[in-house]
Amino acid sequence: MKKIGILTSGGDCSGMNACIRSAVRTAIRMNIEIVGFRKGYLGLMKGDCIPLDTKAVSGILHRGGTFLQSARSQEFKTPEGRQLAMDNLKALGIEGLVILGGDGSLTGALELSKMGLPVVGIPASIDNDIPFTDMALGVDTALNNILYAVDCIKDTASSHARAFVIEVMGRHSGYLASIAAIATGAEFALVPEREVDLSEICQQLRVRYEEGRDNAIIILAEGAGKAQDIADAVKDAIGFETRVTVLGHYQRGGAPTVFDRLLASRFGKKAVELLVAGQNGMMVGLSCNTVLAVPIEDVIKGEKRPQDEMLRLAEVLGI
Ligand code: F6P
Repeated sequence: MKKIGILTSGGDCSGMNACIRSAVRTAIRMNIEIVGFRKGYLGLMKGDCIPLDTKAVSGILHRGGTFLQSARSQEFKTPEGRQLAMDNLKALGIEGLVILGGDGSLTGALELSKMGLPVVGIPASIDNDIPFTDMALGVDTALNNILYAVDCIKDTASSHARAFVIEVMGRHSGYLASIAAIATGAEFALVPEREVDLSEICQQLRVRYEEGRDNAIIILAEGAGKAQDIADAVKDAIGFETRVTVLGHYQRGGAPTVFDRLLASRFGKKAVELLVAGQNGMMVGLSCNTVLAVPIEDVIKGEKRPQDEMLRLAEVLGI
């Protein structure tokens, strides 16, 4: 293999830059040319790429986001869009591709692999809902961002004797909400995996309120309900003054943590090595602190990572 490409797709996350840097440095060490496609699959369909060398990836290790930029592309989901991408790759002489992204991006990677292009995927999504990896890139940084915000909000919640509903990301995954609730000592974590019983929440909060607890933190995954509805229900049932904070895209940015910088470096190196070794259609993953490779097909077909242990831990701790 003489020339490969790399791209970042879907929702961005911290650690993507560190991962690109690692892949580029690994490729250079193996005497392989590497180019970066801009804006994910959009760049692939336009043939929009830049050569990557040591200089191109210097000074980015500690920066959040992705300097190659990212996008979600509907056109790439069509056979015509994917054929366009394949034609561009052929014209550019690119023999393999490293793709960073979440489940949608990995589905695209699998399609390219089925069309005969050697592809290796890297799980990168703050939702941490990708099967066969303990952690995806960006999750640890997002959690630390959430922790900082919730700790700040707890200060003001106690000063004003208020209940806060804090909405975190996770349309289909309650990972961020449940881990953040455990790590901040929040009263409740509301997640899409479990039905939200508002009257039960209000009942439990009332008991605590009557025992003298005059403030509360409810962490809500965005897919589990409407923050304002929950705040209104708590206000009506208990008389608590309530406020809503939506953390939004703040969670996805910022300097990657040590964990994410290291994971990014490990994933980037392993992905290039797999590609060069002819391991087509694989995704790198982390299991028991070992970086391994699993078929993307299994990842796409696989069950979402079960959150049972964390949900049980939250229950035992009274969340
Ligand atoms: O990356 C996944 C995710 O963070 C989801 O949790 C969230 O719902 C979504 O991205 C937001 O995407 P966008 O950046 O397109 O608004």
